[in-house]
Order: sequence, then C-alpha cells, then structure tokens
Amino acid sequence: MEFDPIEEISKTKKGFAVQQQLYQAAIKEIRTKLEILDEEFQVKYDHNPIHHIESRLKSMDSIVRKLRDRGLEVNIDSIVNNLSDVAGVRVICNYKDDVNSIAKFLLNQDDITFIKKRDYISKPKDNGYRSLHLIIAVPIFLYESTELVRVEVQLRTIAMDFWASLEHKLKYKKENEVSKNLSHRLQRCAINLAAVDEEMQEIYREINLEKP
Ligand code: GTP
Ligand code: MG
Repeated sequence: MEFDPIEEISKTKKGFAVQQQLYQAAIKEIRTKLEILDEEFQVKYDHNPIHHIESRLKSMDSIVRKLRDRGLEVNIDSIVNNLSDVAGVRVICNYKDDVNSIAKFLLNQDDITFIKKRDYISKPKDNGYRSLHLIIAVPIFLYESTELVRVEVQLRTIAMDFWASLEHKLKYKKENEVSKNLSHRLQRCAINLAAVDEEMQEIYREINLEKP
C-alpha cells in the first residue's frame, strides 16, 4: 500500500486524542475516589479533610516541550512510558493530618497501583516548597481492554498551597531570577506557614479528641 502522509497524520491525531481521553478518565476516577473519601469522613466524623480538589491535563505544548527538553522521542509510547504528570490532581486539605490520611486511604484501595512517593513535607525543598507527591496508576475499563493510567497526585494543606501558588507566580514573572533577598523572604514565609499549620493542627486535635 502506498504511504499517504495525510492519512498518517490523521491516524496520529486520533491516537493522541484516544490517549488524552484515557488521562481524562483517570483524573475523573481519582477525583471521584477522593470525593467519596471526603464524604465518608463528613458522614462519620463530621469533618471534611479536603478543602478542594483541582485537576489538569497537561497541554500538548508542555508535553512536547518536556519530551524534547529531555531528548526523548515525541510519540504516544514515549509519553506513556516517560511522563508521569500528564494527568494531575491536586488535593488541598484543611490540616496536615488530613494530607497523610487521604494519601494512606487512597493508596490502600485495591485498584490503585503505587508507583512513587516524594514527601516534600517531611523533607521540604530548599526553597521552602512543601507537598506530598504520589505517582499512582488507576485502571480504566474500556470495552475491549483495561488500561492502567498514571496520575500525579499532589497533596498539601491550604497554607502550603497559598505559598506554592505565590512562589510559582513570582518565579514565572521574574523568569527564574528571583533575587536572593526575595528567595530568603519566601523561605521565611514557608517556615512561618509551617508553624501555623502545626498550631492549627494542635488546636483541631484538642477540640476533637475522639476523631481520627
Ligand atoms: P517535573 O519534571 O517538573 O514534573 O519535576 P519532578 O519530576 O522532579 O517532580 P517534582 O515532584 O519535584 O515536581 C513536580 C511538580 O510539583 C511541579 O510540576 C510543580 O507543580 C510542583 N513543584 C515542585 N517543586 C515546586 C516548587 O519549588 N514550587 C512550586 N510552586 N511548585 C513546585
Ligand atoms: Mg511536573
């Protein structure tokens, strides 16, 4: 059969669309699992561990940029094998204990495959960044097959999220040239916010002695 470039391009486009739908489905599954956990806590303990959930599908532009920056091929297999953050879910919790509980209950689920954990709460980054990152895989049931799809889940408190969004904007604005003085002040803010997180957690514990 003769090579038809138009047909090849349209096949590739279709392939990308199919893969994107899988990642979107994985985001939905994880969000639902998190919502169910939050509702269970609400019903049983009158407490919502999750303040809110955000999610995003990495844009085609960023996917291509990331693969190129790492000198990797740009095709669907390369995306699936090399990138873990195409599907991203961010869980903003009320208290520090909530971050650990939600992570534990999510990882305990039978259909969740654990891939990698990065605990920037126990070991914050030098700049002050705090969050718990999990890479997991969730099965997506299609009519002919079941696909394990990777999702990056970032869990953090409201205070950690407050800091991360400001720092992200600053970095973006200054194109990675945040002055020494600003970096130091941001670091101080992260430390102060962590102290507030600790104290709020203590207060919560003292008010709710019988709850998990
Ligand atoms: P990427 O290749 O960027 O995904 O980094 P990585 O594979 O080393 O993963 P890591 O867990 O360090 O970071 C992944 C994501 O965490 C980033 O895309 C951000 O969303 C978030 N993150 C990590 N470090 C920082 C930070 O210093 N500041 C802020 N605001 N966000 C961060
Ligand atoms: Mg990333």
